[in-house]
Amino acid sequence: MSHIRGRLNKAVDKLVNKYTASIPFDWRLYQHDIAGSIAHAKMLARQGIIAPKEAESIVSGLKAIKDEIEQGKFQFKPELEDIHLNIEAGLMDKIGEAGGKLHTARSRNDQVALDLRMWAKEAIAETRNKLRGLQRALLDLAEANKEVAMPGYTHLQPAQPVLLAHHLLAYFEMLQRDIDRFGDCLKRTDVMPLGSGALAGVGYNIDREFLAGELGFSEISQNSLDAISDRDFVIEYEAAASLGMMHLSRLAEEIILWSSAEFNFIELDDAYATTSSIMPQKKNPDVAELVRGKTGRLYGHLTAMLTTMKALPLAYNRDMQEDKEGFFDSADTLLATLEVVTGIIKTIRVKKENMKQATQRGYLLATDLADYLVGKGEPFRSAHNIMGKLVSYAVQRGKALNELSLAEYKQFSPLFGEDAKSITTETSIAARDNTGGTAPKQVNKALARARKIVSGGS
Ligand code: ARG
Repeated sequence: MSHIRGRLNKAVDKLVNKYTASIPFDWRLYQHDIAGSIAHAKMLARQGIIAPKEAESIVSGLKAIKDEIEQGKFQFKPELEDIHLNIEAGLMDKIGEAGGKLHTARSRNDQVALDLRMWAKEAIAETRNKLRGLQRALLDLAEANKEVAMPGYTHLQPAQPVLLAHHLLAYFEMLQRDIDRFGDCLKRTDVMPLGSGALAGVGYNIDREFLAGELGFSEISQNSLDAISDRDFVIEYEAAASLGMMHLSRLAEEIILWSSAEFNFIELDDAYATTSSIMPQKKNPDVAELVRGKTGRLYGHLTAMLTTMKALPLAYNRDMQEDKEGFFDSADTLLATLEVVTGIIKTIRVKKENMKQATQRGYLLATDLADYLVGKGEPFRSAHNIMGKLVSYAVQRGKALNELSLAEYKQFSPLFGEDAKSITTETSIAARDNTGGTAPKQVNKALARARKIVSGGS
């Protein structure tokens, strides 16, 4: 029987054990639980709540348990419910009576809040690093293909030419917002809840600032009821992770489209492609498809946790144990996705010529020709209309705009002159020369700015 069931006269039903145990997943908190307990034991001794000798034996017992866990020798018992009770019981077995003093001035409620915040802080740091890694890969690819032009799309219809580097830097921006968002999330996660007890605080003269210092927290929580029952930080991580995955799913979708025979803009490295069990010719972008697909799981975890927390009365309720699996899976999935997408981007082959050829189709210069007419005095709205008619004329004849003669142009507006013919993909791109535009001058500035971000501050 568990060491905390004094109030109850029977062992717990087997089925209940299985239903309520969190050890199958919260074992992952073992390092944080042990670090938290070591700090707590030290603090108890400093405050004269337990004897220094007792603290020493607790600390060495906990260290030994950590080694056992890492060597696969520690026996986790589901009847001990969770990681906290498993470690405490293991400690009592190992060091006897002193082990029973560790839980003085503490509850599992502040303990689990502490452990999970410590885990979250690490997950946030790792997520931000991996986001940065993907930013670097995108930036390298953009720099290596600085001059490459491609069609830009709206409605997935050819719209205006852009530089590939400009397109890639759009993702750099999204990832920068993700890094910032996780940074914001870190501020609210970096708050130390220990000392909140079960709900009301603890009746001992503890030193919460010392605990925060030992455990590397910037602040201590200010309300025990809130500290016990707050899982906002889990939800914030899941929300930021959902946004991050949404961005990655858009990149994945473009990788899928661009590697199709119809676009033929890129080729995936064989190490990042799969094949078909029946069609021998296939080279499939399954990895990118799974990035797109796994995004759904993260949205699910976010919705699940918001729903679990909805209308829960203060303070701790066991419902909150449901926080962990979705949280762990969100972080695991996002981290793995970031690694795999970084690998794709690092090894992708850009088919520059095909991108360039594609800029010759789809009447991408129609806006520039309308702007040309504006330059000759035509109001934009009527210039737009003239160009619409000209494009329709060219479409009917199966011709590109540059295949029409000047005489044909002049049928639509007498303002067209020989110089209309000097409008090209390159002049179109160079014309978008404001901050945030695709002109080489602007893109070079953006590349330099991005390089500075990845090689220094955030
Ligand atoms: N296993 C629990 C959880 O994950 C730990 C806290 C348990 N507290 C309690 N009063 N049963 O939330």
